[in-house]
Amino acid sequence: MIVGVPRETFPGERRVALVPGALANLAKVGLEVLVEAGAGDEAGYPDADYAAKGAKIVSDRAELFRSADIIVQVLSPGANDKTGHADLALLRRDQILIGFLRPMGSAENLSAIASRGVTSFSVELIPRTTRAQSMDALSSMATVAGYKAVLIAADIVPKFFPMLTTAAGTITPARVLILGVGVAGLQAIATARRLGAVVSAYDLRPVVKEQVQSLGARFVELPIEAKDAQDARGYATAQDESFYRRQRELLGKVIAENDVVITTAVIPGKKAPILVTKEMVAGMAPRSVIIDLAAERGGNCELTRPGEKISEHGVTIVGWFNLASTVPYHASQMYARNLSTFLALLVKDGKLQLNLKDEILRDTLVTQGGEIVNPRLREFFSMPVLAAPAPLSEEETPK
Ligand SMILES: NC(=O)c1ccc[n+]([C@@H]2O[C@H](COP(=O)([O-])OP(=O)(O)OC[C@H]3O[C@@H](n4cnc5c(N)ncnc54)[C@H](O)[C@@H]3O)[C@@H](O)[C@H]2O)c1
Repeated sequence: MIVGVPRETFPGERRVALVPGALANLAKVGLEVLVEAGAGDEAGYPDADYAAKGAKIVSDRAELFRSADIIVQVLSPGANDKTGHADLALLRRDQILIGFLRPMGSAENLSAIASRGVTSFSVELIPRTTRAQSMDALSSMATVAGYKAVLIAADIVPKFFPMLTTAAGTITPARVLILGVGVAGLQAIATARRLGAVVSAYDLRPVVKEQVQSLGARFVELPIEAKDAQDARGYATAQDESFYRRQRELLGKVIAENDVVITTAVIPGKKAPILVTKEMVAGMAPRSVIIDLAAERGGNCELTRPGEKISEHGVTIVGWFNLASTVPYHASQMYARNLSTFLALLVKDGKLQLNLKDEILRDTLVTQGGEIVNPRLREFFSMPVLAAPAPLSEEETPK
């Protein structure tokens, strides 16, 4: 079987879906690799490095799509809402597509993918289980974004992060607050701590308190309790407006005490909650910085302009998207590891093993045979239920 790696076409995207170092593992499961010329250039992986690991380099994108049985991308049609539609025409029936599809973005996008007859898998839907951990692309990219958010803040804020004792006096450390302590938030805490800042963090899920403290940060306790704070998958659950209102009232003072606020709070499939109001921004010291990692989902700060860096009340608010793409070498390496582990589940001895009794494949499968087949997405988009695959028997349960 042949895996094709097209060059990413979303404007500014610098990552690539597979890196040369991942090819040996793919060869082991019987996969050959075709790479579009220049696909890894921006990430720091020249064509020659792929060729040295046995890949064939193809300069014609249409030929790559024609020859490959499986197409792997970072931003596939759906997540790539700028240029992704051009690839739809190149995809063919029963071809396999794996990438970020933004599955809860719009039913129209998913229908467009389905209409090509493609068997598509969305990496956003990889379950957060121990077995699927090495395939968890959302966690990989969130790790990169959390790290980079801190570097951006450190670059903008007119202060040192660490405490310094110098002949010219003592410098007090910068104060950094992280709102939302999932994967990105934890990485932001760790990075800000390494730079020497005084870090505190808050999440509506009280279970993260110990993780925050183990990274050397203070957990901000608010006298308010979320109802059923997290679901069975570990995600935060949406709260009612009175909770969010109270949360904002309580957060105002905490936010004003910090030089940098990094927000990461999201609920799957929902608009991001507003945690930082315009009044809170006005209450921050001039030249403070907010990095809003939830900007793509509307933002956690009322003043965030998604995709932009702005200044309001003397405070810089960064709402840039896709920060993982700004560390493309390692983001691609991590994503390639996630994809190659996923591919090893899907392909055995050079043959496709579309075992839909496997939870990971079943959860991530979005379209097949012209239909959106994922039950969770069908429910999300209020589509009628399709017949479900048979449950796993004891022997079939993946170990
Ligand atoms: N393999 C695994 O076991 C695995 C891998 C990755 C993540 N996880 C877990 O999955 C969960 C989701 O992680 P994620 O990084 O995708 O999170 P996410 O991106 O969905 O959300 C980021 C954080 O925002 C928080 N949040 C949401 N609304 C908030 C509010 N109003 N106020 C404050 N905080 C708010 C959430 O609780 C979460 O911690 C976590 O429990 C994480 O530990 C498990």
